[in-house]
Amino acid sequence: MTWTRRDLLGLEELSKEEIVEVLDRATKYKEAYARGEKKLPVLQGKVVVNLFFESSTRTTTSFALAAKRLSADTMSFSTSGSSVTKGETLIDTALNIQAMGVDCFVLRHPAPGAPHLLARHVRVPVINAGDGCHEHPTQGLLDMFTIREVFGKFEGLTVAIIGDIRHSRVARSNAWGLTRLGARVILAGPPTLVPPAIGAALGVEVSHDIDRVIAEADVLNCLRIQFERKAANYFPGTREYAAIYGLNAERIKSCKKNAIIMHPGPINRGIELTPELADGDRSVILYQVQNGLAVRMAVLALCMGASEKGAIAE
Ligand code: CP
Repeated sequence: MTWTRRDLLGLEELSKEEIVEVLDRATKYKEAYARGEKKLPVLQGKVVVNLFFESSTRTTTSFALAAKRLSADTMSFSTSGSSVTKGETLIDTALNIQAMGVDCFVLRHPAPGAPHLLARHVRVPVINAGDGCHEHPTQGLLDMFTIREVFGKFEGLTVAIIGDIRHSRVARSNAWGLTRLGARVILAGPPTLVPPAIGAALGVEVSHDIDRVIAEADVLNCLRIQFERKAANYFPGTREYAAIYGLNAERIKSCKKNAIIMHPGPINRGIELTPELADGDRSVILYQVQNGLAVRMAVLALCMGASEKGAIAE
């Protein structure tokens, strides 16, 4: 085990070897589950807290189930009904929960950098489950896991990330991780949602020609238009967006024979892609969700210092 990090805050700071270690450990956990080993004694006696200050379906459920499959106890915290509504800060909230004897925080927060701040104040691992428009490292890792499962490699692959890149933590985590693993990444969509400066900052290509990108890509990763972050202000209307940038059956006729379609969810059906593509043969969207469980088991185990079978280094 080469992993020495306590926290997983982003993929920007991870080496290729660290990313591969997470993917390899996740493969072991997925194989164990397929053999019928549904609960592993890896984190017995440990408590994992889901600290969610923003809505989530996939990530919160996936982390809770991943912790349970590793035999940890889990606790879920959401802001509604908590003392955050009375003005208590993130740090005070976490320190009070830590005082009850917990072993890991999984944090989703609307403010970029919130997990980094929390990690400086607590004694236990902090895992970033999405911080504003900054990073969503476990989504990036599960996307990479799915791509590796389908293609068996990253070198020589072109991954197109299409849509609302401006507001996307998923795009950032994917760009950092995929380039480190040797894939070519193209960010694509309307110029207002994919400004060239983002490509330059992430060291990847930018294109506003969706049909050219579709023809070149092995992976078409469609991202949600983030209406809650006012993305609709960046294009005239959703029908126009769907017509010019959305994926549909006609448009993907020019894609590669083995190209796959991904989406981190939740999907705006009929905007980023049509329902027939979301549910069609090329779609690996639900495999992404399934793989997320094994990837989050791996991240929890590694950050909490557990070996594959469960010895926890003190
Ligand atoms: N992909 C993702 O983060 O989904 P949730 O917001 O439902 O967790």
